[in-house]
Amino acid sequence: MLVIEKKNKLRNKLLEAKTTGKTIGFVPTMGALHSGHLSLIERAKASCDLVVCSIYVNPTQFNNPDDFENYPQTLKTDIDKLDLANCDFVFTPTFDELYESKSDLLDIDLSSLEKNMEGEYRPGHFLGMVTVVKKFFDIIEPDKGFFGEKDFQQLAIIKYMVSYFQLPVEIVGCPTVRENDGLALSSRNALLNKEQREAAPLIYKALGELKNLLLKHTIQECKDLITDQINQNKELGVEYIEIVNTKTLQPITEYSDQKICRACIAVYAGNVRLIDNIAL
Ligand code: PAJ
Repeated sequence: MLVIEKKNKLRNKLLEAKTTGKTIGFVPTMGALHSGHLSLIERAKASCDLVVCSIYVNPTQFNNPDDFENYPQTLKTDIDKLDLANCDFVFTPTFDELYESKSDLLDIDLSSLEKNMEGEYRPGHFLGMVTVVKKFFDIIEPDKGFFGEKDFQQLAIIKYMVSYFQLPVEIVGCPTVRENDGLALSSRNALLNKEQREAAPLIYKALGELKNLLLKHTIQECKDLITDQINQNKELGVEYIEIVNTKTLQPITEYSDQKICRACIAVYAGNVRLIDNIAL
């Protein structure tokens, strides 16, 4: 496995491989790797000849400077994990390697896709996120990009960006990997204290009750019931819960076409912000 900081060096290595007909799978991450990230590497390994993983905590997608400062960084163990997972290239660029300046952001209108949920509560987050992913795609030119359904709105926005710029990359959405108690794996889980960690599985448990609740209650009543259930635990505070159309991400008002709905939630445990979602 090669760890590369310079984009030109990575590009040259990949060009060499491409001329011999090898396909490239790409898994972008911000490091602090866990089994969720590694499931994407595994998926990429299974369908591409070579796998590139990037580790870069992207400042332009953090709307909260404290969140950026506190984001866990574990580069050495990350590299060991990627080596064990048979990853081929790790790209660890610096800011200057990727960006011209702090205002070097993509010219794209995300409009309705970022109006609610993460887009509403983290203004600017998705523009910074698609900017860095587009930069990675331009450098690596992968055949396939692998992203987790854990960040459902992110996945939808990346698919939109790819079709907007007509990039020749297939976006593969991968299922959320969870702890045994149901908590979705997240780099931020490392920041939870004991009490918060014990409370956190309630998020997935409450979401799991939604399907039944929706048969008896209106959408608004269901959202209120889930919010109350989670907020009753003093460690947790719901920021939003939304039930949206899977493709448009617009809130649905009536639960009829079950196949195209997704319930998405953001919950604070102290200062740690956790997100999750399930198909309905
Ligand atoms: P990060 O939070 O490190 O996540 C990297 C990838 O891992 C994303 O596609 C995310 O959805 C996926 N992932 C995280 N937790 C997961 C889980 N429990 N199960 C399955 N997949 C999971 O998302 C980002 O980084 C950044 O926004 C990035 C796309 C790298 C751009 O900076």
